[in-house]
Amino acid sequence: MFLPTIISITFLFGGLFTDALPSEGRKHNFLRNGKLPIPTRDSTHVITVTVEEDNTSLGGFERPKFIEREFTVFDPVHKRKGNAKRPLVLAYHGVMSDSETMRQLTQFDREAKDRGWVAAYPQGEWKFSEKMTNWNGAGCCSQGQDDIAFTKDMIDYIVKHFNVDENEVYVTGVSNGGFMVYRLLCEMGDRENGKPWISAASVHSGLLGAWQADFSSCSISTDTSLVHFHGLADPVVNITGKPEGKQELLPFAPVTNAEWKSVNASIDYVAEAMCGSNAITSTSNPTESTTCHQMCDGKVEYCMVEELQHMWSGCSDESLHMYDPNHATNVDATKYFADSFARHSSKKETNL
Ligand SMILES: *[C@@H]1O[C@H](CO)[C@@H](O)[C@H](O)[C@H]1NC(C)=O
Ligand SMILES: *[C@@H]1O[C@H](CO)[C@@H](O)[C@H](O)[C@H]1NC(C)=O
Ligand SMILES: *[C@@H]1O[C@H](CO)[C@@H](O)[C@H](O)[C@H]1NC(C)=O
Repeated sequence: MFLPTIISITFLFGGLFTDALPSEGRKHNFLRNGKLPIPTRDSTHVITVTVEEDNTSLGGFERPKFIEREFTVFDPVHKRKGNAKRPLVLAYHGVMSDSETMRQLTQFDREAKDRGWVAAYPQGEWKFSEKMTNWNGAGCCSQGQDDIAFTKDMIDYIVKHFNVDENEVYVTGVSNGGFMVYRLLCEMGDRENGKPWISAASVHSGLLGAWQADFSSCSISTDTSLVHFHGLADPVVNITGKPEGKQELLPFAPVTNAEWKSVNASIDYVAEAMCGSNAITSTSNPTESTTCHQMCDGKVEYCMVEELQHMWSGCSDESLHMYDPNHATNVDATKYFADSFARHSSKKETNL
């Protein structure tokens, strides 16, 4: 049982922003406040910050100029100083969900403990009510809040306070959080040292989506990796990427002009960007119900899970696995993703 440390801070902007912005052009870089909390020696930290948003009305949503944002960091071993820097995995929840549910669904705490990583669960912006949260994931669900800047600020904070290696940041997400991961791959780009912000990624039950059917802002680094898991029976984010279905299921979301690529087209897009080819180089069957195809020498992979609906493959939590009839025998997506991150990480090291 880990007791969360609640740290709350509110920022004063205005005059503080007269000096030059960081090179990424971030406006609400919350490190600039200079008063961020120093984590205690607890394992779990809930960090709350207030950020300023440019667009108070966009996509039919109204928002206050200053909004509160939150993320939970799980650090199993408190190795903050004098030790080798550790990888970080960030896990993005789905629409109408939250960071604690993502934690329960994926159990990345377990991988962090086993592998000596730090795990963090960002919280999407709250909307309408406490039950309505989401990411500006390009294709679902609201737009306007700058979740790219929020992600960069959050990574910088965790790198600084939890002894994390900035060159080993892995991201994963489910559903709307999966759309967000595709957007991060497209738009995060490189740090000043020339290495990508995101060194490895995985998506579960999300797709590559774009507002106004425009993919021109998508620029994927060749020095990253992606695994995509999807249920063949997913009725919410259909593998074909057809927009009709989602409008019925998400009546509150302004999706009219959005375009979703199918799973195959999403993966093809990433593979073409990463290695110039979408050719499948190998195929594997980690379980009877799951077929995985590898591309780009294994840097890009997608796995189709039979009978799985809109759910995390292999989820063992009794209260969450209802859309996975084969949950007991399906691949544990959390472990599969963590293995992929680790493989990609060690591959990069041996290439040095
Ligand atoms: C705010 O909206 C304008 C135009 O509607 C857009 O060009 C700009 O990128 C938006 N900024 C953010 C941070 O979303
Ligand atoms: C996905 O969409 C296709 C049509 O594009 C449809 O035939 C199929 O039944 C849908 N799958 C599910 C699980 O709803
Ligand atoms: C996606 O690609 C795989 C491998 O080429 C193929 O077996 C599968 O039928 C494709 N799925 C759809 C929905 O086109």
